[in-house]
This record gives sequence, C-alpha cells and structure tokens, in this order.
Amino acid sequence: ISTTSGLSESGVLHPLQRAFLDTFATQCGFCTPGMLMAAKVLLDHTPNPSRDEVVEALSGNICRCTGYEPIIQAVLTAARSNSQNAA
Ligand code: FES
Repeated sequence: ISTTSGLSESGVLHPLQRAFLDTFATQCGFCTPGMLMAAKVLLDHTPNPSRDEVVEALSGNICRCTGYEPIIQAVLTAARSNSQNAA
C-alpha cells in the first residue's frame, strides 16, 4: 500500500507535493492525500496527461474547498516539471 508518507524522499517533497503547495491546491487538507495518490497513479501511467485526463483521474475524490481548479493545475504543473527533468 502506498501512502503520502512514502511520496517524499529524505525530506525532499515529491513534485506533486511541491506543486500542490505552489498552486495553493491544499486548503483544509481533508482531500489532499487522496488527490495526491490519485494524481501519482495517473502520472505513473500517463506522464503527460491532458486536462481531461487529470479531471477523470481525480473524479473519485471530493473537495469541498478548492473548486478543483488549483488541484488540476497542480497535477499539470507536476507533469510539466517531471517532463522537463526527464529531458
Ligand atoms: Fe478541503 Fe479539499 S482542500 S476538502
């Protein structure tokens, strides 16, 4: 079982965690672990997802705070970051 505790390595935030902070995608934080892990599964299988693919991947998680857009932007930001680091 993978959890958010296993995302960061040696105290360095995972690109998704960094992007969630940078885009203010976390407010109360209740949905954040589920959003992060759903996004991680998406990026593991689809490293460069479309916006629609991100929306679909996160659709099983409910957020009462953000209106979803910051979370979607965080996932797209992390995907861009990953592709830039891989180049
Ligand atoms: Fe509060 Fe998503 S940040 S439920």
